[in-house]
Amino acid sequence: MSLTPLTHGRLPPADDALFERIAGALETRGLAVLPAALPEAITQALLDDLAARGEDAFEDAGIGRGRDTTTNPFVRRNRIAWIDEHDDATRAWTEWTTRLRGYLNRRLFLGLFSFESHYSLYEPGDFYKRHVDAFRGQSNRVLSLVTYLNAGWRPDQGGELVIYEPEPGTPSLRVSPTLGTLVVFLSEVFAHEVLPAARTRYGVAGWFRVNASINGNIDPPR
Ligand code: OGA
Ligand code: MN
Repeated sequence: MSLTPLTHGRLPPADDALFERIAGALETRGLAVLPAALPEAITQALLDDLAARGEDAFEDAGIGRGRDTTTNPFVRRNRIAWIDEHDDATRAWTEWTTRLRGYLNRRLFLGLFSFESHYSLYEPGDFYKRHVDAFRGQSNRVLSLVTYLNAGWRPDQGGELVIYEPEPGTPSLRVSPTLGTLVVFLSEVFAHEVLPAARTRYGVAGWFRVNASINGNIDPPR
């Protein structure tokens, strides 16, 4: 009789090492910052899609979503273009975020139900003042994910994402929006802001959501 290892012929999927780095960091501090971490094929697919869409695809960003969306240029000046989960051009991104969602659900029991994301375009001088992506009990956004699409970004070009630690007195974190850098954090816990940059700044911002449907009011919308 020979003993066959249980994993025989079933190597862990290629994404798992990265997904585990994200899960481990979320587990210990609620936040993962991983420079140049997004798989290159996905970064490239997003860059290609961005080039195909062009700047005309971008609309003014609102604060909040749905009926009471307001545009306040003192809080936020940038433009966005939503990514449709059924769009073939961003299939690699949609599938990767779906696999990440499944991994985090299995590993951390987060019950993440869906994902939404958009490209962000900040012209030189644009900003997004300090904010949180979700208020406790008022939103079903649980986890925020940001990645950047700027090749050759230099530190002196600014545009950092500043992340504020929830404990008073703990220094904030500054993340340069370099190509493929991944930032994942608990939406209700970490206030953050985008500083103005000297060059156009491209990225993707997304949110994993839990299912908050009540009384036939379907949320997230389909
Ligand atoms: C957001 C956001 C950060 C960034 O869109 O809510 O905080 O670096 N984006 O673009
Ligand atoms: Mn935000």
